[in-house]
Amino acid sequence: MLKKQTIVLGVSGGIAAYKTVDLVKLLKKQGFDVFVVLTQSATNFVKPAQLRRVTGHKVYTDLFEPKFDYRKILTKRKVEHIELADKADLILIVPATANLLAKLAHGIADDFLTTTVLATRAPVMICPAMNSNMWQHPAVKDNLSRLQSLGYQIINPVAGMLACGYEGLGRLEELRKIVAAVADRLELNTSLKNKKILVTAGPTRESIDSVRFITNLSSGKMGAAIAAAATRRGAKVRLLLGPKDFTTGKDLLALVKKYAPRFDLVFHTAAVGDFRPECSRRGKISSHKPQELRLETQVKILAQIKKFNPKITVVGFKAESGLPKKFSIQPGADATVYNDVSRKDIGFGSEDNEVILVLPGYTKKIRKAPKAKVAIALIDELSRYYHW
Ligand SMILES: Cc1cc2nc3c(=O)[nH]c(=O)nc-3n(C[C@H](O)[C@H](O)[C@H](O)COP(=O)(O)O)c2cc1C
Repeated sequence: MLKKQTIVLGVSGGIAAYKTVDLVKLLKKQGFDVFVVLTQSATNFVKPAQLRRVTGHKVYTDLFEPKFDYRKILTKRKVEHIELADKADLILIVPATANLLAKLAHGIADDFLTTTVLATRAPVMICPAMNSNMWQHPAVKDNLSRLQSLGYQIINPVAGMLACGYEGLGRLEELRKIVAAVADRLELNTSLKNKKILVTAGPTRESIDSVRFITNLSSGKMGAAIAAAATRRGAKVRLLLGPKDFTTGKDLLALVKKYAPRFDLVFHTAAVGDFRPECSRRGKISSHKPQELRLETQVKILAQIKKFNPKITVVGFKAESGLPKKFSIQPGADATVYNDVSRKDIGFGSEDNEVILVLPGYTKKIRKAPKAKVAIALIDELSRYYHW
């Protein structure tokens, strides 16, 4: 069973804050685990105790606890708002005041909520609600477009009767529509329901003799993350993971030949060694004298896949030591995903990745994030491009 997804609900000091008790109930009904952060102003509209009851979790209001002692942080290496920012699968802000929009647009981090938002790598959805004159103010509009350019998703307010007595734009979007947008954003959509996806991952091993081999640093984590993300979207997925499901490049080629005709899409993330020893010797080569090792080049599996199934969509992965100035799509592929293996903080073996997706006429950088999130973002981009 999939782990429950975590929503961090940020509540700022608008009148619509009183609706967040019902919002939490709806989110929980959808199966989300919800943690709430309130701004000081928000506590005037909704009580932390009410939200504690409905979420079953502590409600966060203060960046610094009353008896804050920094030495505890240094021994435990735990900071609450960072832990919460990391735990979030999505941060949802309901309602977002004009004040909060301004702070987030400028990277201000002066309370628990704004600090958490700045620290997270999760998607952030913002639901503003305010008086219609405030909503129309050029300062608010500027802040909104800045927030959008920073990648925050805005759910615009709707027209209706406002708490201040005005009638017009500024009313919080309906709660059930907000919940539907969250579910959509968190891949609870099944856009890949009818897709069969093959994923190759991990390293190859080419024997030198019976006990030695040449391999590479690939861990298979990126491919495994893509397989998990595609499964979550409803696709039927087959993961070919080296060195468990295959050992050599030849083994993988045979598997790809077998499976490609049955699949719609292949993510070829496996790090297939470019070379293999010209001949592998039986037994163990004696270590008494130096040996010469001649390497021959391997067949490029990527270039073969469409021969096995001309209709299959092929997404290739290219590990580069430093990124090129110009990106191109590899022969035999429909899309290429570049990653820079010269960086220690991403790529081979690391938990994080940062990639560039290249499609015909379209290039998109997917910023550094845990591989699970990069996988989702990649699938999102491809889904949008191909209208899946
Ligand atoms: C009764 C009352 C209702 C308010 N409603 C809103 C609102 O709906 N939207 C908004 O942007 N600000 C509203 N404000 C103003 C915010 O509370 C104020 O800007 C505050 O500084 C926001 O702080 P926060 O963003 O840290 O929560 C309201 C203020 C009062 C007194």
